[in-house]
Amino acid sequence: MTDINRAIEQLEWNREPRSLYEPVEYTLASGGKRLRPTLAMLASQMFEGNDEDVLPAALALEVFHNFTLLHDDVMDRAEVRRGRPTVHVLWNDNTAILSGDQMMIEAYRLLSGVPEEKLPKVLRMFNDMATGICEGQQYDMDFEARQDVSLEEYMNMIRLKTSVLLANALQTGAYIAGATEAQQQRIYDYGINLGLAFQIQDDLLDVYGDPATFGKATGGDILCGKKTFMLLTALHTATPAVREEIEAHLSATDTAQHKIASMTAIYDRLHVREKAEEAIAEYTGKALECLEALPHNDAAEALRNLANKLTNRKI
Ligand code: IPE
Ligand code: IPE
Ligand code: MG
Ligand code: MG
Ligand code: MG
Repeated sequence: MTDINRAIEQLEWNREPRSLYEPVEYTLASGGKRLRPTLAMLASQMFEGNDEDVLPAALALEVFHNFTLLHDDVMDRAEVRRGRPTVHVLWNDNTAILSGDQMMIEAYRLLSGVPEEKLPKVLRMFNDMATGICEGQQYDMDFEARQDVSLEEYMNMIRLKTSVLLANALQTGAYIAGATEAQQQRIYDYGINLGLAFQIQDDLLDVYGDPATFGKATGGDILCGKKTFMLLTALHTATPAVREEIEAHLSATDTAQHKIASMTAIYDRLHVREKAEEAIAEYTGKALECLEALPHNDAAEALRNLANKLTNRKI
């Protein structure tokens, strides 16, 4: 973990124009959980791989993840991340777009440092993952304008926008370390289920998180009309009258504060938080099951602990 942070710190952004690279530096120095590189390293360690062989991919994954956040914050009009103003707020949209593009390119540059014989498959998997995220992000946008999104559609959307990156980090680490196809598939499935639990938790924290710890403004999803686990669960469990109430709140020209308060009160009444917690526990359980048929060693233990810890996270 500290190795990953040190390696990220050592990435060199001292180039011109500063207006392109400063936002990149700013973003990568703002912390975050470093979840994806941690998953890649642990997956490699599970199969007794060398840390140095997987490090280029681990770094690529973190830089790529941070790139998606720059663009995501433009798309979601989010003003705070990791307790700091977002790039599009501190600079502007064009900067967030172009510095984000540069980070994506840098991610591919880093990725090309994996052992040469492994590169073709690593690249293929990375491209599939990146396409998946674009598809997921587009569904996420499309769903904002739709009122008939099913829970199945939502689960598919979060599998694409969030899970495939976690799953790819794990499979890439395992593949570089020499895991079999079946083992790669199992650890990939662990990542998919972990990602589903992780995104539902993110949706929950967007309503009930403490902005000081979560590092993002709460209520953003409510204001965008995001079809989150919270909103869909409310819509699907509400009586027709409450459903109408929800639709009225969301379309009203109320102040942001009032909208968030009214929707949170409805979530409270419908016990949406408890339902989200049940779903998080279910997918975390599925993730843990996937680890059963994999080697039981320190790395496996760390992955088990990570799944349990993420489920209870506040950040
Ligand atoms: C944020 O990811 C985007 C989601 C998939 C919810 P993280 O919660 O891992 O963000 P950082 O990197 O720790 O800030
Ligand atoms: C995360 O979705 C998915 C990606 C960033 C690709 P969110 O939009 O919920 O992530 P946060 O809450 O802004 O971190
Ligand atoms: Mg967002
Ligand atoms: Mg988003
Ligand atoms: Mg979110």
